[in-house]
Amino acid sequence: MPGKQLLAAGDLPDLMDVRGQAVARRALEVAAAGGHNLLMVGPPGAGKSMLAARLPSILPPLTPRELLDVSMIQSIAGELAGGALSDRRPFRAPHHSASMAALIGGGLKVRPGEASLAHNGVLFLDELPEFQPSVLDSLRQPLESGETVIARANARVSYPSRFQLIAAMNPCKCGMAGTPGHTCKRGAACSTDYQARISGPFLDRIDIRIDVPAVSASDMIVAGAAPEPSVTVASRVAAARERQRHRYEAAGHPDILTNAAASSALIERMVEPDRESQSLLLQAAERFNLSARAYHRVLKVARTLADLAGSEKVARPHIAEALSYRLNFGSA
Ligand SMILES: Nc1ncnc2c1ncn2[C@@H]1O[C@H](COP(=O)(O)OP(=O)(O)OP(=O)(O)O)[C@@H](O)[C@H]1O
Ligand SMILES: [Mg+2]
Repeated sequence: MPGKQLLAAGDLPDLMDVRGQAVARRALEVAAAGGHNLLMVGPPGAGKSMLAARLPSILPPLTPRELLDVSMIQSIAGELAGGALSDRRPFRAPHHSASMAALIGGGLKVRPGEASLAHNGVLFLDELPEFQPSVLDSLRQPLESGETVIARANARVSYPSRFQLIAAMNPCKCGMAGTPGHTCKRGAACSTDYQARISGPFLDRIDIRIDVPAVSASDMIVAGAAPEPSVTVASRVAAARERQRHRYEAAGHPDILTNAAASSALIERMVEPDRESQSLLLQAAERFNLSARAYHRVLKVARTLADLAGSEKVARPHIAEALSYRLNFGSA
C-alpha cells in the first residue's frame, strides 16, 4: 500500500510491573501461547485489568497475511484514518455499556463491530457481568465460528472475527466474595445472582478460568525476586506459536496458526492422549459432566501446555493442568 508505513511495536505496559500473581501470570502466558479465552475472577484491586493490559506485550506481531485482514476491517470501519499500519495485534476494550451493534456491527453502512475489529487480536471485556446479557450472548456465534454475520432485510454481511476473549470480573456484586474474613451482606445471593448474568453456553467457551486473589500491601513490600519482564515471556510464547504453526502446516492446514483455531477433529489428531491421560480425562468427564465442547477445549489447552514445555507428546500433567483451569468457577 503506497504511502503507508509500518509502525514499530513501541512502548507497551510490561509484566515487570506485576508483583506476585504467579497463577495469573502463568494463565496469561498459556492464553497468549495458544490463543485461548481467559476469565479472571477476583476482588477489586487484585490487578486483573493490569494483567489484561499487559497481554499485548507478550503476543507475537501479526504475520503479513493477518495484517492484511486486520487493516481491511479497520479500513471498512473507517479506523485507518491516520494511514499508518501496525503489526501489533488489535486490543479492543469496549465499555460494558456497549450496545449489540457496537460489539457485533451494524448500522446503516453495516459497519464492523468490536468483535471484528479485534480479529487476530484480543477482545477485552472488563467487568464482564455488567455487560447486557443479550449483548454477551451475541458473541457466542463469533466465539465458535470466528465470524460475525449481520443479517439485513435484503443483505447478509459477514466479517472475520477470530478474536481471543479476555474477561475480568469480581466474584460478586460487592466484589469481595471468597476473600478470607469477608461475608457478603446479601449472603450467597450476592455471588450467585451476579454470576448468573453470564450464561452457561457463554462460559462454556472460556477455556481458562482463574481466581486472582488480592496481593496485600505487605506482600508487595517484601516481594522476592524481580518479576519477569514481558520480553522473556514473549520469547517463550513465540517459540510455542512456532511449534503450532509448523505442526498445522505439516498437517496441511497452513491457515491455522494456534491450537485455539484448530477444529475439534484436528485437535483430536494432534493430541492422541496416552493411557494415563485418557483415564484422567475419563474421570473428569464422568465426575464433572464435561460437554463435548469442553472436552475439545481441554485438549487444545493441554496441547498448548505441551508446546510451551517443548514437548511433542501431550502427557498427563498437561491434561491435569488444562482441566484445573476449566473446573474453576461455574460448571465445566
Ligand atoms: N500484583 C500487583 N502488582 C503491582 N501492582 C498491583 C498489583 N495488583 C494491583 N496493583 C495495583 O493496584 C491497581 C489496581 O489494579 P487493577 O485495576 O488491575 O485491579 P482490578 O483487579 O482490575 O480491580 P477491579 O475489580 O476494581 O477492576 C493497579 O493499577 C496497581 O497499581
Ligand atoms: Mg479492573
